[in-house]
Amino acid sequence: MCGIVGYMGYREAYPIIIEGLKRLEYRGYDSAGIALFDGTNLKVSKTKGKVADLEDRSEKEITKTGHVGIGHTRWATHGVPNDVNSHPHLSNSGDLVIIHNGIIENYESLKQELISRGYTFQSDTDTEVLINLIEDVKKKENVKLGKAVQIALNQVIGAYAIAVFDKTKPEEVVVARLGSPLAIGIGANENEFFIASDASPFLEYTKNAVYLEDEEMAVIRFKKGIKIRKIKDDSLVDTYVQELQLNLEEIEKGGYDHFMLKEIHEQPKAITDTYRGRLLRREAIIKMAGVEDNMKKFLNANRIIIVACGTSWHAGLVAEYIFEDLARIPVEVEYASEFRYRNPVINESDVVIAISQSGETADTLAAIKLAKSKGAFVFGVCNVVGSSIARASDAGAYTHAGPEIGVASTKAFTTQITVLTLIALRLARAKGAITSSDFRHHLLELEMIPQKVEEALKSDAHIKMVADIYKDVSNFLYLGRGYNFPVALEGALKLKEISYIHAEGYPAAEMKHGPIALIDENMPIVVIATKKGHYEKVVSNIQEIKSRKGKIIGIVTEGDTQVRDLADHVIEVPETLESLSPLLTTIPLQLLSYHIAVLLDKNVDQPRNLAKSVTVE
Ligand code: G6P
Repeated sequence: MCGIVGYMGYREAYPIIIEGLKRLEYRGYDSAGIALFDGTNLKVSKTKGKVADLEDRSEKEITKTGHVGIGHTRWATHGVPNDVNSHPHLSNSGDLVIIHNGIIENYESLKQELISRGYTFQSDTDTEVLINLIEDVKKKENVKLGKAVQIALNQVIGAYAIAVFDKTKPEEVVVARLGSPLAIGIGANENEFFIASDASPFLEYTKNAVYLEDEEMAVIRFKKGIKIRKIKDDSLVDTYVQELQLNLEEIEKGGYDHFMLKEIHEQPKAITDTYRGRLLRREAIIKMAGVEDNMKKFLNANRIIIVACGTSWHAGLVAEYIFEDLARIPVEVEYASEFRYRNPVINESDVVIAISQSGETADTLAAIKLAKSKGAFVFGVCNVVGSSIARASDAGAYTHAGPEIGVASTKAFTTQITVLTLIALRLARAKGAITSSDFRHHLLELEMIPQKVEEALKSDAHIKMVADIYKDVSNFLYLGRGYNFPVALEGALKLKEISYIHAEGYPAAEMKHGPIALIDENMPIVVIATKKGHYEKVVSNIQEIKSRKGKIIGIVTEGDTQVRDLADHVIEVPETLESLSPLLTTIPLQLLSYHIAVLLDKNVDQPRNLAKSVTVE
């Protein structure tokens, strides 16, 4: 978590850093800060709150000039969010300054050691310990900044992406990464450099970027270039400059009030982009290089283990139904955070699928490292190209959702399901578990999903009206069966995340083993009751709710009359195959949570306490 931005070049650094931090606020937004060097002085301004608060504060506190600077937007780990704990942090001499994304796990012992040598600390952070450790090494060993950073990092345990500079040598910035992402943008003739957690802060200035790998550090020198080394053994690494494919429009709101709403509406395109070139309906084939090249591994697998967190875990649950139903391959779905710590039984005949929008989630990354160490084959399903999980996997398939900026995940979920459906269908065909006509039927229906999502989005005004009726309740229940049970979980998660209303997702049939006790005339219950998904059983569950006076919001197939007669409200989605229905039923649930949050005046794109990319355990 946390976003870091840095600039060194001929332009004013302040506006670049502030705009960059705004683009990275999805990574954390409980405090923000900036350090600028104006040729003589190092000026630091930092505050609890958002980047907009930092702008107000720096307006009063510092002159905003300088061509070298670093900035930070924080998601607190060590120390509460307050002004003092905000980054950047200075060393005791005031010469060195650092921004840090990650956690230094052994900071307490390092801190005690430094205190015993006379160092003092203003904040409760692990980061202030690191910058003083670097200063201590630099003085003791009488080495340059790059070397001091390297020696210090070899003493720390933890995760980091850092940027450090010395105000007495401001033509040089040192960066390093282990477990947290770090990109370096390179301007023409190396007369400017950008540093950021992802490339979005420097897209309008350069398309040339270097992504540091784990355990690498770089010394960046104005007009002289970049030198990358391995932190452990000091060996030089070739600098590989990539050309970025991302455009600025993709990371802007494009006329929508919120990124979340924009991303909900982008789903028809995102799903199309995800299956384009892979789903070839006329030829009746699915083409996915990562699957094709590893077909034997998939077909000989004992089982598939899916590891993920949050919304991606819900996509994994949908995938469990698809893989078992269509391809007849046993699947287990695990929270990455549990999997990595419970000594799982896993070996070479297992295939692990890791699902992650960001490709940076620390628990998912650790889970796949564990799986690989046991010999399992790891297949990554990520959205962010070149992300850590994508790189750490043996093979994979990208979702082509485009950048997802709203913290509550929407288009990432539906595109993950799209990729996983394609894989399941391809394997089903290879195994002969699906007939040719059934396979063709699935391809046809999947190809029609974007158009049907478009249809589902037309219920927006009606959903807003329903949101207005229930916005003030304290609890919501979401029920679904089969393929739509994970959708119920995802619907409840969306509501919790952005409206702070307590919501629980449950398999509809399990309701009678607990949640039914909660039902009274004040309790809205969203029931997914599409025509093909155990419809009669779900109707019985609705009757049970009705007789306890619960308020029913039914998500139904177009033209449904039975649930319409029973429910207080119905929201229709077009008809499709049951296996594809999550791609449609999830749409009204996204819109419902969105409208409730907006009506409650919550910060939809940056809900409290959450972050988009969770790079800490
Ligand atoms: C955070 C985000 C969620 C996301 C989860 C997993 O909690 O707020 O929206 O589902 O991390 O992230 P990933 O990038 O691995 O899909």
